[in-house]
Amino acid sequence: APIPPATLVIFGATGDLTQRLLIPAIINLTRSGLVGDDLNILGVGIEPGDDASLVARLDGFLSGLSEPILPETDDAWRRLRQRISYISGDFTQDGIFLEIKKHLTRCNAAFYLAVPPQFFGTLVEKLAEQGLTREADGCFRRIAIEKPFGTDLASARALNARILSNVAESQVYRLDHFLGKETVQNILTARFANMMIEALWNNNYIDHVQITAAETVDVGTRGKFYDATGALRDMVPNHLFQLLAMIAMEAPNGFGAEAIRTEKSKALSALRICTPEEAVTHAVRGAYTAGKLDGNDITAFRQAKDVSPDSNTETFVALKLFVDTWRWAGVPFYLRTGKAMKARDTEIVVTFRQVPFAQFRETDVKRQLPPNRMVIQVQPDEGLSVEISIKSPGLSVDTVPVSLDFRYADKFDIGKMTGYESLLYDLFIGDQTLFQRADGIEAGWAAVQPFLDIWAKISETPEAYAPGSMGPSCAEELIRRDGREWHELGVIIHNHIR
Ligand code: BG6
Repeated sequence: APIPPATLVIFGATGDLTQRLLIPAIINLTRSGLVGDDLNILGVGIEPGDDASLVARLDGFLSGLSEPILPETDDAWRRLRQRISYISGDFTQDGIFLEIKKHLTRCNAAFYLAVPPQFFGTLVEKLAEQGLTREADGCFRRIAIEKPFGTDLASARALNARILSNVAESQVYRLDHFLGKETVQNILTARFANMMIEALWNNNYIDHVQITAAETVDVGTRGKFYDATGALRDMVPNHLFQLLAMIAMEAPNGFGAEAIRTEKSKALSALRICTPEEAVTHAVRGAYTAGKLDGNDITAFRQAKDVSPDSNTETFVALKLFVDTWRWAGVPFYLRTGKAMKARDTEIVVTFRQVPFAQFRETDVKRQLPPNRMVIQVQPDEGLSVEISIKSPGLSVDTVPVSLDFRYADKFDIGKMTGYESLLYDLFIGDQTLFQRADGIEAGWAAVQPFLDIWAKISETPEAYAPGSMGPSCAEELIRRDGREWHELGVIIHNHIR
C-alpha cells in the first residue's frame, strides 16, 4: 500500500547520503507506486541556498549516475522534484525550527538526521522543545537517526537517554543500512521458513560461524572520521552484530517489530563480555600499508589525508566471540572486517560439525569429508549456498564436496535498488522491525567495550597488512590456533572438484 501523506524533513540535505541514497530510494519507491504525490520533501542544511538550488544540485547528481536519471525523461523524478523545498540555517539555533514548523503543512512528518553524530542529541531536543515531535490527532512524528550511534557504551547510553527523555521509543528509527539489504532480511526467512535449516541450527550440529565484511576501498577522504573511529567501531557493534543477531536469535513469537527486536536484543545481550585477558587474546587488529590494489596505488593508512602519522587506529579487526545461550554454548563466532582488502565481500559462513564416523572404507574423514557449510553471501553476488559431500561417479567409493547454489541474480531482478527503499518505506508506514531498539544498540556496545578499553590502555600499533591481502597474519593465527581456517572469500564450490 502507498505511504500515507507526509513530509520528509532531511537534515543534511546537501550531503552525500541525501543525493546518493535517500533521493534515489524515494525515486524507486515512486516508480513502484508506493510513494505518491502526497510526500513532500523539506531539505534543511547549513549551506546557503533555496528550493531551486537544492533541486539543481540533485539534478546534477542524478544525471551523472552511470544509469542517469534525467529530469526531463524520468517521470518519477520529474514529479518528485516539484515537491522539494529547502531552508538553510544553523541547527543549534531556534530560528530554523520555527521555519520548519511553517513548512510543515501536513500533519505526518519524519525527521531524517543525515548529519554528523554530534548533532543527533541537540536536534532531537530542539525538535521536541519546539513541539515538532508531538503526535496529535493520529498523526505521526518520527525521527530517523543514521549511524554512528555513540562511540562506546557510555556515549550510546547517554545518547539514548537524551533522545528518550524527549520522544518515545516508538518514534525513534535508528538506522543500520545493512538491514535494508535483501540478503540480510532473508536470513530470518531462510532460518524460520525451512525446517531442514532450523533443525540443525545449534551447538549439536554447528561447529562455528564466520562473519566477514571485507572491503576493497581504503579510507579515501574519510581520514578524519576514520582515524577517530577505526574498523571495530565503524562496522562491528552495528553492521556485523546485526548479522550475528539474525544468525543467533531464537524464533520470535511473531513477525512483528517488537517480537523480532526483542529476540535480537536477547541474542546480543548474550554476547560474552570478555575479561581484559580475553580481550587481548580474542581480538587482533591491522592497518594497511602502502601498496597496490587492482592496479591502483594505495597510500598507507597512516599517510592518508587527515590521519595522524602515528595513528594507532585499526583498519582491520578480527574477533572471536561467544553467544552464551543454551543454543550456542561453545560455538565460536569469528568476525572480521577491513578496508583495502583483496575483495569486496560480505558473507556469513556456518560450518557444521564433521560427521562422527566415516563409513567409507577408503575415505580419510578429515581430508575427504569436509564439513557441510552454508554460505550466506550478503554482497556482492547475493545468494546462499550449501556445501555437501556426494559420491564421485566411478567404481570406488570416493566422496567429493559439491555446492547447492542459489544466486538472487539468477532468479530475481534486485539490481537497481539502493537498500534504502525498504527502510524509508517502513519509516513512513511505522514498521520498526528493521531499525535498532535502544537496548539492542547498548548490548552491542557492551560486548565491544572490553576491546576498546584494552586497546586504549596498551596502545599497541596494529599489525601491518598489504593492500589486496586478507588482512594481517595475526588474523590467521586467531582462528588457526583453534584448529580452524577462514573461509576463502568468494570461493564457492561450483559443482566441480576443488
Ligand atoms: C558504513 C561504514 O556504515 O558501511 C563504511 O561507515 C563502510 O566504512 C560501509 O564502507 C559499508 O557498507 P556497504 O553497504 O558498502 O557494505
